[in-house]
Amino acid sequence: MWDFFKTVRHRHSVRRYQADMPVEDEKLHAILETAIAAPSAGDLQAYGVVAVRDAALRAALSRAAHDQAFIAEAPVVLVFCTEAERSARKYGERGRDLFALQDATIACAYAQLAVVAAGLGSTWVGYFDEAQVAEHLGLPETQRPVALLCVGYPAELPEVTPRRRLDELVIYK
Ligand SMILES: Cc1cc2nc3c(=O)[nH]c(=O)nc-3n(C[C@H](O)[C@H](O)[C@H](O)COP(=O)(O)O)c2cc1C
Repeated sequence: MWDFFKTVRHRHSVRRYQADMPVEDEKLHAILETAIAAPSAGDLQAYGVVAVRDAALRAALSRAAHDQAFIAEAPVVLVFCTEAERSARKYGERGRDLFALQDATIACAYAQLAVVAAGLGSTWVGYFDEAQVAEHLGLPETQRPVALLCVGYPAELPEVTPRRRLDELVIYK
């Protein structure tokens, strides 16, 4: 089991996967359990997840994401969808426009760290046509896809990207 800080430092976007190495059910389950452990506004958990293993569907998601080929290569794609009305019922517009998006996003971030701890790699994909993704997945009107998380065994050493300096980003008062 990896130390949390080491896990965070080792998370880099992986865009090549070993297509013949499936993600074990237990690992996928552990990743999803970690996602749902995330906090959410009012504990309303205003999101849903579609776990896609089907190859034809992954290829369709790849096309809907402007032909980002690695999406079809990854053995699992987790699609995080907001369920805005769950949050709107309690929080009105702020729940609908903000909290549901935050709930789904935080859950995806938790999943992405669990992926590292499970010895796998991932990339978060946000550049996709929402209507096409919703149609391919047959999502109900109440769900809006906001993030795809491609998951699999890495077939590359990912590039380590730079970060802005803390003193550029943080103001202490
Ligand atoms: C909201 C969001 C959208 C992203 N969309 C894409 C995408 O469509 N395609 C892609 O290859 N990477 C995408 N990424 C991954 C980023 O490019 C990546 O996290 C960033 O370059 C930093 O690299 P790292 O993840 O290796 O630290 C996205 C990340 C986030 C958080």
